[in-house]
Formats: sequence, C-alpha cells, structure tokens
Amino acid sequence: MTNTPQSKRAPRNRTLTLSDDDRRRLKPRLQTLDAPAKLDAIVNTTIHQDVFKALPLLPDACADLVFADPPYNLKQPFNSVNFNPDELQQYQEWLESWLALLQRIMKPGASIYICGDWRSSPAIYHAASKFFKVRNRITWEREKGRGAKANWKNSHEDVWFCTASNDYCFNVDAVKLKRRVIAPYKHDDGQPKDWNAGDDGNFRLTHPSNLWTDLSVPFWSMPENTDHPTQKPEKLLAKVILASSHPDDLVLDPFLGSGAASVVAKKLGRRYIGIEQNEEYCLLAERRLELVETDPTIQGYTGGVFWERNTLAQQQNQSSSKTR
Ligand SMILES: C[S@@+](CC[C@H](N)C(=O)[O-])C[C@H]1O[C@@H](n2cnc3c(N)ncnc32)[C@H](O)[C@@H]1O
Repeated sequence: MTNTPQSKRAPRNRTLTLSDDDRRRLKPRLQTLDAPAKLDAIVNTTIHQDVFKALPLLPDACADLVFADPPYNLKQPFNSVNFNPDELQQYQEWLESWLALLQRIMKPGASIYICGDWRSSPAIYHAASKFFKVRNRITWEREKGRGAKANWKNSHEDVWFCTASNDYCFNVDAVKLKRRVIAPYKHDDGQPKDWNAGDDGNFRLTHPSNLWTDLSVPFWSMPENTDHPTQKPEKLLAKVILASSHPDDLVLDPFLGSGAASVVAKKLGRRYIGIEQNEEYCLLAERRLELVETDPTIQGYTGGVFWERNTLAQQQNQSSSKTR
C-alpha cells in the first residue's frame, strides 16, 4: 500500500492514516487462530490471518450475516479491472473454495452478500448457486471511475444477495430511501399523496430497489476514507446490515480490508468478526472501530433514513460531520 505522507495531503483531506503509535497500540488487539475458537473469544475482533486458515477454526452456525468483498482479480488483488475472461472458471473455483467453508459457519437463517464487478459477476452467480439461494443482484453506481477511450466507462459494481435457506430476515422498513418528490401530487383536500412537505423540500419514503444510486465512493474529504484501494462506502454496508440482520446479530466479513463491515456493524449495534490477511488493513480497521466510540454517524443515513445522494439534508449532515 502506498501512503501519502500526511504532510503532503491537502489541508481539508480527512483520509484516515495510522501513526506508529497507533500501530503499536492496536496490534495487540489483532487475533491469529491456531485452534478451534470459542465464539466469546473472537466476537468483536479482527482476525489477522489468511481466510483459508481462519474459517475452519470458527464455530459452527454462528454468523447471522456474511458480507464478502473478495478481490475481483486473483492475479492483481486490488483495484484492477483487467480480469482475463479465460480465467473466469478458475475464479469461480476459488470462490467456491471459501464459500464452502462459510456454509458451515452460517446459521440456517443467515444471509450472505457477495461483491463483484461486471466481469466477476457471472462466476459469483454460478458459485453462490451451488451453496445458497441466490435472491437478487444489487447494482450500485460508483460516481468515481476512469474514463475509457474505446469503451464505456465502468461505473457500477454488483452485490449478490443470497440466503442459506428460505427462512431469512429482510427488514424492508429499515432500508427505505428518502427521495425528493418531483411532481408533488395532492388529494382533492389539498393533502400530499404519499409524500411529506418539509423545510428542506418535499420527500417520499420509497421501497428500496436493487439499483442503488445514492452512494458515494469514499473520497479524500470524507472522514471514513482510508488508503485502502477498494474500500466500500459505510452507507452500502448500512443498507445490507439493516436489511438482513437484527440488533446484536453477528456480522462476519472474511475479506475485511479497511473494516467497513465491522465498523458499520458496531455503529448499528451488531456484533462482528472480520478476517483480513494484511496487517496494515487490520490496524486501519481497528483504528476505525476505536473512532466509532466518538463518532457513530454514517454518512447519508440520518434520522433512521437513507437519503438520496446530494439532497439538502444529506449535504447538511456531511458538512456538520466535517466540522465535528
Ligand atoms: C476488496 S478488498 C475488501 C475491502 C473492504 N470491503 C473495505 O471496505 O475496505 C479485499 C480484501 O481481502 C483481503 N484478502 C485477499 N485475500 C485474502 C485471504 N486469502 N485471506 C484474508 N484476506 C484476504 C485483501 O487484503 C483485501 O484487503
């Protein structure tokens, strides 16, 4: 990982970085398993280990929700869009090798979300179908992305929603989207039809679809931003966790990266376990978990509501969280 020294960053750059003191202080919190683990000993921790070594040592049927954001390309684990289509079969086999290990760890009512891009998505679908009930493919719009000279710019990613059985939780009311009403229709008596008038404008709570256009990829002025190259937005995790788990449930992330899943689980009153092979990313996750104690906010999710991107209320929330 290449860290830009803090002194070279723009003054308003809020990217979270680690000091040597942070590393020394946080390192003892990381776990490495060498024998089957009791849940009490590993809950709310970060396991610094290869996923293939850690998963067989986790207890049976402990996870209520799995969020899996694996590398999209085995050759270059990060930030690459150069997936070789000839290797899709090999990628699928690799996915199957850890999905098989996860199956034992998930409760019968558990859900699993698996991230990918347009190239890896077919392999995810086929691999996940072997172990789980595939329920949906969520596509989310990435605002960022490099333009291509001879192709369409890639500006979306997928998250596959699967469940271990037909008996699963889905809290639809917890993930409704607050959308601005373009044509505010009124009843004959002048009352709004399915929307509310407020100081910030007219808004309606809408059912969440599988097309998510309200997310911002973490960028330098956001407090959740780190130097991890493929960090997921906390708002994305909040939707997944609120829809598919209850307070106190256990959220497991086998490819934790900078810790988004554990951090949002903690912010939303869930328990968590994260597995990550890279020590620096484990420590970043631990630092973010520490900061939850003083700032449990999630950008774009306020007052129990997900706000459409760039709505006034969301902007106010962002600017007030910047000044905290
Ligand atoms: C796509 S990133 C996850 C990003 C994460 N969702 C976040 O928001 O920061 C994938 C992560 O999996 C980790 N990883 C890759 N192979 C692994 C393995 N065999 N065992 C454990 N972690 C692994 C990488 O180090 C990387 O941080």
